[in-house]
Amino acid sequence: MGGADGEPELDLARVLCALGELDDPGSRAFRVGGGDWPLSGLVVRRGAEVHAYVNRCPHAGHPLNLRPHDFLTVDRSLILCCSHGALFEIATGRCVAGPCAGAALARVPVVVTRGYVLLAEGVPAQAPDD
Ligand code: FES
Repeated sequence: MGGADGEPELDLARVLCALGELDDPGSRAFRVGGGDWPLSGLVVRRGAEVHAYVNRCPHAGHPLNLRPHDFLTVDRSLILCCSHGALFEIATGRCVAGPCAGAALARVPVVVTRGYVLLAEGVPAQAPDD
């Protein structure tokens, strides 16, 4: 079903953040889904690109950030894990330096609609199985 302007209705349960909440480049944490295992992740914007990943480092499984919404290096060119310093490419989630070099963050498929970043259709709003 569409909205009055012909755009699809927003599924609010799948909204991760508003595009305007993201600096360029910038990042934000999100949590969607209920129950014991909500999906906890990060959204990163760089130019026209928006990427999302599960907030779990492939090295030791820790959350990447210490401070809320703070996932990028000082120059904002890479994603940083604050636990032991692993660095990840924004566009691929691949670790390019640190203790898990060659591993990758788990991507969360997203779409940008009506100025919002949404979990893509069919992606469960819960933490992935190990
Ligand atoms: S848990 Fe991320 S680098 Fe160790």
